[in-house]
Amino acid sequence: MSIIFSGVQPSGTITLGNYLGAMRNFTNYQNEHECYFCIVNQHAITVFQEPNQLRENIRNLAALYLAIGLDPDKVTLFIQSEVPEHVKLGWIMTTLSTIGELERMTQYKDKSQRHGNGDSIPAGLLTYPPLMAADILLYQTDYVPVGDDQKQHIEITRDLAQRFNSRYGEAFKIPAIQTQEVGARIMSLQEPKKKMSKSDDNSLATLYLLDEPEMVLKKIKKAQTDSENKIYYDKELKAGLANLMAIYALITNKSTDEIERQYAGKGYGQFKNDVAEAIIETIRPIQTRYKEFVNSDYLDQVLTAGAAKASQKAAATLNKVEDLMGLSRKF
Ligand code: TYM
Repeated sequence: MSIIFSGVQPSGTITLGNYLGAMRNFTNYQNEHECYFCIVNQHAITVFQEPNQLRENIRNLAALYLAIGLDPDKVTLFIQSEVPEHVKLGWIMTTLSTIGELERMTQYKDKSQRHGNGDSIPAGLLTYPPLMAADILLYQTDYVPVGDDQKQHIEITRDLAQRFNSRYGEAFKIPAIQTQEVGARIMSLQEPKKKMSKSDDNSLATLYLLDEPEMVLKKIKKAQTDSENKIYYDKELKAGLANLMAIYALITNKSTDEIERQYAGKGYGQFKNDVAEAIIETIRPIQTRYKEFVNSDYLDQVLTAGAAKASQKAAATLNKVEDLMGLSRKF
């Protein structure tokens, strides 16, 4: 039985990219593996979050984890800030990191650019990866299912784990990334060379799991394509269409070749209608379940039990780390 860990930031509403790129796969692991899924609210505050909005986003994400089919009898579902071992090991991981390797992270480069110079870049953006390493390493994780934008973060996690193990003694398993071939990066519907993101300024660029059917149809109809009106997969020259084909392929379990054959001689209008329909049918049952969970006491019970269970496992790793480093009073 392998150990699986992944996290999602409650920094906005969950997107179709989050779902198809990562969360949907979480459910595939739950029957055979020991799984930990986390709401990483301490990562979310590396950029400003309005407190009421953050509270709501945390709850919505927790409800969505259940709504996509995660069974709390099988997986441990919890909120990062309720398991204090994360920041404790996060600090230790920060002390093992170098400024140079943290500054080389592309996510840091992208996000810090939006903040101007060093006097206005939040330091948490820089120290984000060591906290993420702590999330993963606390559970002796074998596999981390994520979208491919997280590749670099998993690599630094492995580096930090190896650095610790060789400097102080074996405390961590070295985790591996798990991404999919198609769908590891769902692109913006408006700028298909950019990834779909929770916080895009253009409201038509991102599909949210909680979008109403009319909104899904509108966004897909307005999605950027090209003027050729012919359906075949070319990620470079027809990035917008390729993205819609990837979404459709993931949802219908068809290959892009099959989709090409299915739509030979047909135009974008019909294809877009079918893509929208497929998305609507996929998210409809998720939305129904979400509404049942979001205001329930059951959700709180799941999160409370999840934090206790996670903490137990995390504490074992942290104790070992503190002993090996000489932080504890144990000789
Ligand atoms: P976050 O919250 O940005 O995204 C959650 C998951 O969704 C994936 N994802 C995508 N996949 C495909 N296409 C997209 N357009 C797309 N956008 C997002 C992400 O790759 C991710 O798997 N740093 C992480 C959160 C985190 C974490 C962890 C993940 C913190 N600690 C430990 C794994 C393990 C993040 O910002 O994900």
